[in-house]
Amino acid sequence: MSSVILRVARGDGFADYEVEAGALTILDALELIRGGRDPSLRYRHSCHHGSCGTCGALVDGSERLMCLTRLSDLSPGPVTIEPLRKMGVVGDLAVDPSPLFAEMPEGSSYLRASESGSGQRLEDCIECALCVSACPVTRPFAGPAALAAADRDREERPGREGAALAFASGDRGVAACERSFACSRACPQAVQPGRRIESLRRSMAARKG
Ligand code: SF4
Ligand code: FES
Repeated sequence: MSSVILRVARGDGFADYEVEAGALTILDALELIRGGRDPSLRYRHSCHHGSCGTCGALVDGSERLMCLTRLSDLSPGPVTIEPLRKMGVVGDLAVDPSPLFAEMPEGSSYLRASESGSGQRLEDCIECALCVSACPVTRPFAGPAALAAADRDREERPGREGAALAFASGDRGVAACERSFACSRACPQAVQPGRRIESLRRSMAARKG
């Protein structure tokens, strides 16, 4: 069976671990490493199936959910795994996602129709912060996940439209976006935050008349 070298951020440096590709995903491999060779390895996870949004990391520089990234696609490596950008690092790959939640528009609802059309459920955004990490904007910015939430509010809750557009028009709103669409490429769900930001731009222009 083929093996993969995982080069994992640890403190100020990196540690290499050789794992069998049969471990399936990066998260599976980390679980094996932590359960045997290195119990002090730190990372976040919960669901193991792409719905909790906690296991984001940089895999060879690109934002990925580790539970959905198969080792067989990465062999032989070495594959560099680092914590997401723009989040405080708690330890190794574990980050504090509070910058994502701090930017969310006040009063926005987390329960609404799914963007993929599967009916009422928790919205498609899983708050994984991959879009925030991928976004190249360096000036103060609410960020793609928060602006996507504002656009969903505008679209689905007419009573919230004024607040959503005020949020989008603010100093940290859509004007800071550089239209790279790195957010939409990084998003593992159907949110398409870049498209949402363009939707806010159109709504703001229409309101100005
Ligand atoms: S918009 Fe997409 S990438 Fe951003 S936090 Fe939500 S699910 Fe994650
Ligand atoms: S562990 Fe839940 S999304 Fe990866």
